[in-house]
Amino acid sequence: MSTETTAAGEVAGTQTLTITDNRTGRTYEVPIEDGTVRATELRKIKVDDDDFGIMTYDPAYMNTASCRSSVTYIDGDRGILEYRGYPIEQLAEQSSYLEVAYLLVHGELPQQAQLDEWTHQITTHTFVHENVKEFMQGFRYDAHPMGMLLASVGALSTFYPEAAQIKDEELRYMQVVRLISKMPTLAAFAYRHNKGMPYVYPDNDLSYAGNFLSMLYKVAELKYQPDPRLEHALDVLFILHADHEQNCSTSAVRSVGSSQVDPYSAVAAGVAALYGPLHGGANEAVLRMLRRIGTVDNIPAFIEGVKAGEERLMGFGHRVYKNFDPRAKIIKKAVEDVFEVTGKNPLLHVATELEKIALEDEYFIARKLYPNVDFYSGLIYEALGMPVEMFPVLFAIGRTSGWIAQWLEMIDDSEQKIARPRQIYTGGRGLDYVPMAQR
Ligand code: CMC
Repeated sequence: MSTETTAAGEVAGTQTLTITDNRTGRTYEVPIEDGTVRATELRKIKVDDDDFGIMTYDPAYMNTASCRSSVTYIDGDRGILEYRGYPIEQLAEQSSYLEVAYLLVHGELPQQAQLDEWTHQITTHTFVHENVKEFMQGFRYDAHPMGMLLASVGALSTFYPEAAQIKDEELRYMQVVRLISKMPTLAAFAYRHNKGMPYVYPDNDLSYAGNFLSMLYKVAELKYQPDPRLEHALDVLFILHADHEQNCSTSAVRSVGSSQVDPYSAVAAGVAALYGPLHGGANEAVLRMLRRIGTVDNIPAFIEGVKAGEERLMGFGHRVYKNFDPRAKIIKKAVEDVFEVTGKNPLLHVATELEKIALEDEYFIARKLYPNVDFYSGLIYEALGMPVEMFPVLFAIGRTSGWIAQWLEMIDDSEQKIARPRQIYTGGRGLDYVPMAQR
């Protein structure tokens, strides 16, 4: 291709990248749009007609945008997180989880009547089919609640077979409402199963977070009254976890959803991804780590172990944030509010000292490792009376609205097709089968 370029690499108003293939001496111009080049453009770069063309190799998607999205904005260097353009700090302080869920799903803040209708819909779809209860009862007494959530949310697709019609806007919307409303019910049933306690049906008089607390903790009282401060702290945690653009679990939802499967199955994939210790399981790992460290005296030895590569400081570091995770700051404040109600957990002292020491240490400074959302959230969950196994489950409840918003966006995106990465094949070729006796 021969086109005149300016010093800024602009051709007729379009920014381009000029690439010279040193194998052939040929030069190519690739358009740059939004600071990005299309990987498929590189396929034009070939040695000869039989050549497949250049591919990009990007394990773990370190530098690959897989979609266009208007749901969540993150500036990792400056510690900025916005849902649909609204800063997380303002949403955490002034909004509610259900309003944030509306914002993520619909793209704009609701009018009062719209919020009332949305809240009514979510509140009146919290019940699950009685067979779901029996399904839950099939698990071992000590089954991990995240495994139970993963299985039961996937199982919902069998209760709502019409969910497979993902092109039908009305049916699609129904599943959005069902997913957001039933996640806390499934999560609470999993918790009660572990406790050997009867499942508690939803209470439609209570808020989203309040009803969840009721389904977890109600015993013999006629009506469970959540402490408004704890109810509020939980609501804030749901807001903070609601979306985080193309993270591991959201990518899983999009990737699985790109096969046009129903949203329950796609969300089950998200729950599965969130189960892992490097993603939603990190808050559980943080608490185990804090318990293992035990006292402030043991911190220096622990930090040395981390620096020697023997272990990781869980709750620190992030693929995107190379500055403070803005959610960690809000959570730190919420920890203090919750401890006012529940009394202080001595592990908070270990956590704050650990944070202080790590933030002053050259190892963490050089690698831009700061506390992430999981560093303090586990302490709140524990103060709310949750066992560590429930931590990723709580994350999943909040994240459901984000998964769904991203899934809806993908369905409407004409550029999206079934996700299907390429590979660089490194194995053998054309081998002759060797009969067993001759191996
Ligand atoms: N403790 C000690 N060293 C670390 C840590 C940590 N938590 N995180 C990163 N590093 C080091 C890592 O060893 C590497 O050092 P070197 O360059 O000498 O090899 C360097 O920092 C870069 O790390 P990386 O592994 O290339 O970074 P990544 O972007 O692949 O990983 C991460 C991001 C979140 C998986 C990682 O920081 C981690 O494992 N953190 C602990 C687990 C955690 O808290 N996860 C929750 C993430 S936030 C919630 C969510 O989005 O799910």
